[in-house]
Amino acid sequence: MITVRDLSVKYKSRSGEILALNKVNIAMDSRELYTVIGPSGCGKSTLLHVLSGILTDFEGSVLIDGKGINPRNQRIGLVLQNYGLLPWKTVYQNVMLGLKIKQGHAVLDDYGGYLLKQLGIDDLLHRYPKELSGGQQQRVALARAFILKPDLLLMDEPFSALDAITREEVQELFLKAWQQNPVNTVFVTHSVDEALYLGRKIAVFSPSPGRILEVVDNPCFNQDNLRSRNDYVEMSIYLRNLLSRG
Ligand SMILES: Nc1ncnc2c1ncn2[C@@H]1O[C@H](COP(=O)(O)OP(=O)(O)O)[C@@H](O)[C@H]1O
Ligand SMILES: [Mg+2]
Repeated sequence: MITVRDLSVKYKSRSGEILALNKVNIAMDSRELYTVIGPSGCGKSTLLHVLSGILTDFEGSVLIDGKGINPRNQRIGLVLQNYGLLPWKTVYQNVMLGLKIKQGHAVLDDYGGYLLKQLGIDDLLHRYPKELSGGQQQRVALARAFILKPDLLLMDEPFSALDAITREEVQELFLKAWQQNPVNTVFVTHSVDEALYLGRKIAVFSPSPGRILEVVDNPCFNQDNLRSRNDYVEMSIYLRNLLSRG
């Protein structure tokens, strides 16, 4: 369980203080998949930096299973837009990297083998990142995150650099991998479509300084032919209205 209570973050800059997040509250059950949507600059990345333990200068409280965030004790997976792969390591080495750092050693178990197959990278294990397409690189980054079986998985607009077709493919692969291993996930996006496709719950943020306007239970989650359904169209309009009213 993740509990965020009255989280505020200020950055200090030469021109003064910038309030990036303004009293954000989130209560997340375990095995939950949240998408967070909001305009550019509203503090989405800031929220993930706090949740990942990178940013520790904040007001309010952030607890995972009742304890403060500590990347040494908790397994936190992070997937970013630029894949974050090490160019001098092979696909296999990149996938195993997080496990190796966490445990000192890493062997591919049944789940890992299954994951590589499911994500379609089991034939690419000896390649280097520069020999892969963007979609393939992002699938490697997904494998690296899921194989860690994290307590918390954080995704910061991970698919926004991909072309539309590749993006939909990777979204589907992500959802399958998540259903196989439903880890607590906060998935940040600025795409209404992606928020609706991937979020069981959707937290809608206001423009900067970010606060949560509404947490929406998504009736479209995991429905077949989602994008041609009426409730999908209705939800899109609803979210777009919320975002534009701010
Ligand atoms: N290191 C920083 N120093 C000063 N201001 C920052 C810093 N990082 C982000 N900001 C500001 O905080 C606000 C939120 O940024 P960010 O969390 O990156 O938003 P988002 O990811 O939603 O686009 C923005 O106004 C941004 O300019
Ligand atoms: Mg951002």
